[in-house]
Amino acid sequence: MRMFSRWHWPRSLFARLALIFCVGLALAQALSFWLTVTERDEATVNVMTGYVEREVASSVALLDHLPPDERARWLPRLARRSYEFILGPGEPGTPVDARLSERFARSITDGLSRTHTVTTNAIADSSEHFQAHLTLTDGTPLTIDFHPMSSIPLSRWLPLMLIAQFALLIGCCWLVVRLATRPLNQLARAADLLGPDLKGARLPEAGPSEVARAARAFNAMQDRIAMYTAERVQILAAISHDLQTPITRMRLRVDVMDDGDETDKLRQDLLEMENLVKEGVTYARSLHGANEPPCRVDLDALLDSLVYDYTDAGKDVTLAQHVAIAVMARPRALRRVLGNLVDNALKFGGSATIEATSTKGGGAIICIRDEGPGIPEALLETVFEPFYRIETSRNRSTGGTGLGLAICRQLAQSMDATLTLRNRSGGGLEAVLALTGTPRE
Ligand SMILES: Nc1ncnc2c1ncn2[C@@H]1O[C@H](COP(=O)(O)OP(=O)(O)OP(=O)(O)O)[C@@H](O)[C@H]1O
Ligand SMILES: [Mg+2]
Repeated sequence: MRMFSRWHWPRSLFARLALIFCVGLALAQALSFWLTVTERDEATVNVMTGYVEREVASSVALLDHLPPDERARWLPRLARRSYEFILGPGEPGTPVDARLSERFARSITDGLSRTHTVTTNAIADSSEHFQAHLTLTDGTPLTIDFHPMSSIPLSRWLPLMLIAQFALLIGCCWLVVRLATRPLNQLARAADLLGPDLKGARLPEAGPSEVARAARAFNAMQDRIAMYTAERVQILAAISHDLQTPITRMRLRVDVMDDGDETDKLRQDLLEMENLVKEGVTYARSLHGANEPPCRVDLDALLDSLVYDYTDAGKDVTLAQHVAIAVMARPRALRRVLGNLVDNALKFGGSATIEATSTKGGGAIICIRDEGPGIPEALLETVFEPFYRIETSRNRSTGGTGLGLAICRQLAQSMDATLTLRNRSGGGLEAVLALTGTPRE
């Protein structure tokens, strides 16, 4: 693995598998090609040495029997592609040591061993060139000049065949790897789509058995998660419903008690309990996804009415500008998200400014700004966790359950919108809600 990490090991499974297959198969093919060629050469040399042994022996016997003056005439007819006969002592040289020359020299010597004494020596002009010297019975010196041929040359169409074979290999590799990795991609996409509303796309349960099994398991898991969540919502709803009655009863009792410090505190506690129960149910519902169908929402109208409700109650909320666009959204969920964000701005910053701008893809960005203390950078994501409240805000004056932002995030996700917080450079917090304008049904 260390070796792989030094050069760039591709990131995707597709590229890795394709690389391993292609390199492996190409190496295997090269090896088998080399084996075939070597084996072919070996067989050719074996056949050729046997042939040379017999041919040379019979040619020498013929020259031996011919009258000396006729020998020269026969020489061209006895010559072959790799050797020729020379009447004469030939050239001297070093002992034969080249691989092929050695084998052919041995076969010539063996073929003539019963009738003649043969000496051989290499000729220095090329690596595979040697001469065999002998004396005919009448004392005439004879030389066999030998140029061993390594093998039959390769056919011209062979490289083309090799390229075609390699192309076929690459094609098959690509097909196999795609077949293996495509279901993984589909699974990842389906898991990505499984948003908080748990309405992920179902995977087709077809294809090879392993893939079909994984798809079935994934679909079953999706169903189970949806079932558990529904159950949880039901339990929460039931508890809250059952809690509401005793709380109301307790409030009635407090109302008939004598007014005093303790009674006020009790009333305050009961109010908090009521809020907690209500928020709890809303959170559970928002987890379950907005059942509300998406529709076209006139942003200006929604923001105007929201701002009006606050100013009417004497709160410092302003709308910076009108955008004159309509986006696809779930209006009640959107109103609740914006309401929660404005509540926070008012609670922690004293005032809120809302500004909406349209985006190119038909969506909109809504910013809610305040001039409060902001949130430490490290906690900008943490505050979205349910029941999380920053330590300093755990006092009665800004009392809350810590579910507000968690609900906002859930509802935003159910509308395919993103919600982020950032501190403003001049102090205060800015909540940014980016609506894509195309929530899934
Ligand atoms: N505009 C803001 N300025 C400063 N701090 C903020 C702001 N908005 C949220 N926070 C911090 O983030 C925490 C979580 O906010 P969240 O809205 O989830 O809870 P909450 O407002 O305390 O309670 P709830 O909204 O449930 O009544 C808050 O307790 C507060 O510390
Ligand atoms: Mg809040």
